[in-house]
Amino acid sequence: MDILFQPYKLNNTLTLANRILMAPLTRCMADENLVPTQAMLEYYERRADTGLIISEAILIRADGQGYPNTPGLFTQEQILGWRKVTDAIHNKGGKVFAQLWHTGRVAHPFFFNGDYVLAPSAVRLNDTVPRMRELTYTEPKAATEDEIRILIQDFSQAAANAINAGFDGVELHGANGYLIDQFLHHNTNLRDDEFGGSPKNMSRFALMVVDAVSQRIGMDRTGLRLSPGAYFNIQADNRDRLVFDYLLSELEQRDLAYLHVGIYENSMTFDYLEGSALEYMRKHYTKTLVGVGSISPEEGALAITEGKFDLLAIGRPLIANFDYMTKIKYGETLVSYNDDMLSELI
Ligand code: FNR
Repeated sequence: MDILFQPYKLNNTLTLANRILMAPLTRCMADENLVPTQAMLEYYERRADTGLIISEAILIRADGQGYPNTPGLFTQEQILGWRKVTDAIHNKGGKVFAQLWHTGRVAHPFFFNGDYVLAPSAVRLNDTVPRMRELTYTEPKAATEDEIRILIQDFSQAAANAINAGFDGVELHGANGYLIDQFLHHNTNLRDDEFGGSPKNMSRFALMVVDAVSQRIGMDRTGLRLSPGAYFNIQADNRDRLVFDYLLSELEQRDLAYLHVGIYENSMTFDYLEGSALEYMRKHYTKTLVGVGSISPEEGALAITEGKFDLLAIGRPLIANFDYMTKIKYGETLVSYNDDMLSELI
């Protein structure tokens, strides 16, 4: 387990105190203006001994919202609210990245008083909104090329806002079936312009966001989460494999802070990836890779030693145990997570 407690140099700008990351965890606890609260500040502050906190997903703009009370980074009040959180984490010696989010077709007009939601193509998600089952998803409007370019600018502006709010960097949420991921899968991308139709075109939006954000705040402060295995809000298609082959070959040529797999259970395998999403990413990406998904610290330490990934993100166990780092260091028993814990920030 020693390896988990060793410092890790992400690049010349950032060295993490240890190899455990707090995974991004949406908690739906921001106030009515989508500003983080004092309770959220204290929740993050208690977890500042992890090597890097990745914040819960944060909205880049109002029409990206798909769940109640998810925080934003697009108003001055939100930026100032996050500044208090990042100061508290830094005062405890921690580091924190903002996970930047637009939910695309998983957004709902109810949340932002809008007429429609934007997505790569007009393909509706046949489901209702979690936590608000009375709301059914709407058919999204396929974004025009101009609207796509504005979305890219808005990701870049949110990244600049994150730096102004004191974050050490950003993780672009390209996973779990949200906007960036919707461009990367055939189920949700039916476009025949320069943003669809071929692996290169389907990767274009993700790479344009990555490059715009990297230019704005630095590649060393930009991370990306991806779900090559479709498992949430999206249906798998065997042709997706070629899209991710192309995308990862492009990302390999850049020097991002890290890539992070988006998955709940690392043991889940995908025929078209010939294994787990993490194994697939490691085959195509040799730089810093974050593993996640029901991985115990013992399994994580072994996997890091074997080169399967470089950093271990922990989600649900960190909801259940704010003193996770101390407990695993001294071999103390962890409290088991259950969904009832989502109603309170401890
Ligand atoms: C998540 N997850 C998640 N992922 C993400 O990229 N952004 C997010 O905002 C969230 N929100 C979220 C909320 C809750 C309540 C859960 C349980 C999960 C996924 C999370 O980052 C992680 O991938 C999974 O929880 C698997 O890791 P663990 O929990 O097995 O360590």
